[in-house]
Amino acid sequence: MIKEENKYFILETKSLSYIFHINELGIPIHDYFGDKLSVKEDKTFLGLKEAYAKGTSVILDSDVNPNFSLDNQLLEYSFVNKGDFKEPAMIIKNSRGYTFDFRYDSYVINKDVKFDESLPSPHHIDEELIIVLKEVSLDIKVELHYYVNNTYNVLVRNTVLINNEKEDLIINKIASMQLDLINKEFYYTTLNGSWIGECHVKRQKISQGIYINDSKTGNSSAKHNPFFFIGEKDIKEDYGEAYSFNLMYSGNHQELIELNVHDHLHIQNGINPFLFEWTLKPGERFISPYALLTYSNKGTNLLAHRMHNFINNCVVNENFAHRLRPVLINNWEGTYFKFNERILISLAKKASKVGIELFVLDDGWFGDRNDDFHGLGDYNVNKKNLPGGLSRLSKKINKLGMQFGLWVEPEGINKFSNCYKNHPDWIINTKGIKPSEGRNEYLLDLSKKEVQDYIIENVSNILKSANIEYVKWDMNRNMSDVGSDRYNPGEIFHRYILGLYRIMRELTTAFPNVLFEGCASGGNRFDLGILRYFPQIWASDNTDPYSRIDIQSGYDLGYPVSTLTGHVSHKLNHQLLRSTPYSSKFAVAAFTNLGYELKLDELSKIELEQIKQQVAFYKRHRNLLQFGNFYKVIDKYYPGDNASWMVLSSDKKEAIISYFNGVSTTLTKETILKGYEFKEGKKYEVSVFGVDHDIKMFGNLINMISPIHLKAEGHIVSLISKYRSMEGEIEKYIVDGSILNNGLLLKSEWAGNGYSTDVRILGDFGARLYYVHMID
Ligand code: DGJ
Repeated sequence: MIKEENKYFILETKSLSYIFHINELGIPIHDYFGDKLSVKEDKTFLGLKEAYAKGTSVILDSDVNPNFSLDNQLLEYSFVNKGDFKEPAMIIKNSRGYTFDFRYDSYVINKDVKFDESLPSPHHIDEELIIVLKEVSLDIKVELHYYVNNTYNVLVRNTVLINNEKEDLIINKIASMQLDLINKEFYYTTLNGSWIGECHVKRQKISQGIYINDSKTGNSSAKHNPFFFIGEKDIKEDYGEAYSFNLMYSGNHQELIELNVHDHLHIQNGINPFLFEWTLKPGERFISPYALLTYSNKGTNLLAHRMHNFINNCVVNENFAHRLRPVLINNWEGTYFKFNERILISLAKKASKVGIELFVLDDGWFGDRNDDFHGLGDYNVNKKNLPGGLSRLSKKINKLGMQFGLWVEPEGINKFSNCYKNHPDWIINTKGIKPSEGRNEYLLDLSKKEVQDYIIENVSNILKSANIEYVKWDMNRNMSDVGSDRYNPGEIFHRYILGLYRIMRELTTAFPNVLFEGCASGGNRFDLGILRYFPQIWASDNTDPYSRIDIQSGYDLGYPVSTLTGHVSHKLNHQLLRSTPYSSKFAVAAFTNLGYELKLDELSKIELEQIKQQVAFYKRHRNLLQFGNFYKVIDKYYPGDNASWMVLSSDKKEAIISYFNGVSTTLTKETILKGYEFKEGKKYEVSVFGVDHDIKMFGNLINMISPIHLKAEGHIVSLISKYRSMEGEIEKYIVDGSILNNGLLLKSEWAGNGYSTDVRILGDFGARLYYVHMID
């Protein structure tokens, strides 16, 4: 709900309040953002009590208020050159210079909220507040927009600049939002990474000065994700105050935190001003991307839930927001470019036998694409690999009872492609400079409408050519050589993203039932802009479960499980050459939209059986795993590199709790299975899923139980291990919900001896899943 009372604006969600007012000089002053307040009359006690301007301050207008300096205030938006020396939210220029004096003009509260479709915007917004600021002597306006959904506790903001003057206005910076707060010894947490190492959580104390988290790669980037939060020093999963932020944008972004000596915290996010220069012509408006912000006074789990709920209900492509996602097999790591129809069908047959629902044909199906130097940009089927085309292959897959899905990478082209031969001028390039390649590719210049049309037409034709129900949309390089023969080069980064959004919008509208999955060499473009159109994103090319714990733990802070995809890959991981059991790989991938990416037809009988059980378990609990409330279990219970996650149904009747072991030690600690919000006084049954051990895990120790002596690495052990496994621990409990909230002690862990069904043997990187359900 949004209301105005004597120039105080009060925005309320179910549990939060956001309050600001317009002062006598027409400046929007921030008062409060946090837990819902019941402020009936006097709101003046909320904000800063600045009674005088400090020594060297610049006074905005001494005739009206000799004590008011912008620099000392908590503001809704900062401009330049009028005495506010904090980082500006907007930098613009015309023939007069950089100085503009924006003051309050009017406000509008809209109950029928309409968004411009050029940018991804949230849906199910109940109300919008527009604060119109007008330049005192020019017809230039700034609109501060605030959006509220009454149910979900996230606020959305953006900024619009309108040029009604007769001359061009140059925009060098336009932040989507600014939030000024009083610092409470906050720390900031960002998600940083690289290819195969996305979203690693980094936490640092906010000290005086400016901190910037940004991307300059042309995409939202695995280097620094646009999500971040600030929180108390001692914040835990279930304790402490925090604010989190994100941006619905897939290009260069900037998040900025400034702290001054008076403990005023100044936070902004928006398009990165890096190489950004936009010419706003007379009569035009510039709309900045939508920013999300939320607050929690109960730690990071609640902070995450608020974003998760909003993203699931108000951001993700509505067609798929609540649709269960299929379990898939992807051929990439199983075959790379070396496949033909026979190889694919053999893989598909095994996949269908273990219950997999969707077969995804990855890179290599088109042009001369037998390696990553050729063919990208062309859409004719690679007849060498697939003489019967996509149509015959998809029919065969459908006959096996599976859906068919396809990989595409429409934004990139190879030098060795017909597309490049015919349209060398379509790539992003600066005239006169040899363009650099990334993964042997150039990027198409999506600011050009004819290039957008080429992609829309070709992808549409492919989607019509066979029964394709899923698309993995890849993008494998960062941007370089940014220039343009058509526009101000400072506009290209943003125009590229606008072009991409048009393509995504048109394709998802024309093919509303195709499940699109975003991908950019893994998570190089994992953001809310993509999710608005494509409901899920391939989180990382790294499928090693031990690495994935870190990676997914990062994403989970800001993105719901339903938006992440994860695959069980070959036992010996290709990215790290580390071997981990399939049970561990599954235990981590189960907290995403599950897929498999390995040569299933080369697995042993027992391994296939294990995978069949995993798929059945996942399908049985899919709604819980994909859409349940996700919790990180307090890490003080899991010292070292262990971790535990939980998903809980909204009626609190069902949960799955995971436990991941890092590197084992003989100094074993007792393991406590802990959850949150189970109902006290209700009985829950807890059981462990699939714990059998590979015989080879025990090496020579196998001779302790074998009647004949066996060589640990010998053929006999190898053969037996294909058909038999060793029984793992048996753990089943019926306990009160309060015990689970408090922590349930599990059986002791193996350390050197004591094999029995009463001992948990996890080994390095071992993992368990516990299914919990209410029985009365
Ligand atoms: C990068 C993706 O992240 C991989 O999963 C795979 O699709 C390759 N591209 C194919 O080139």
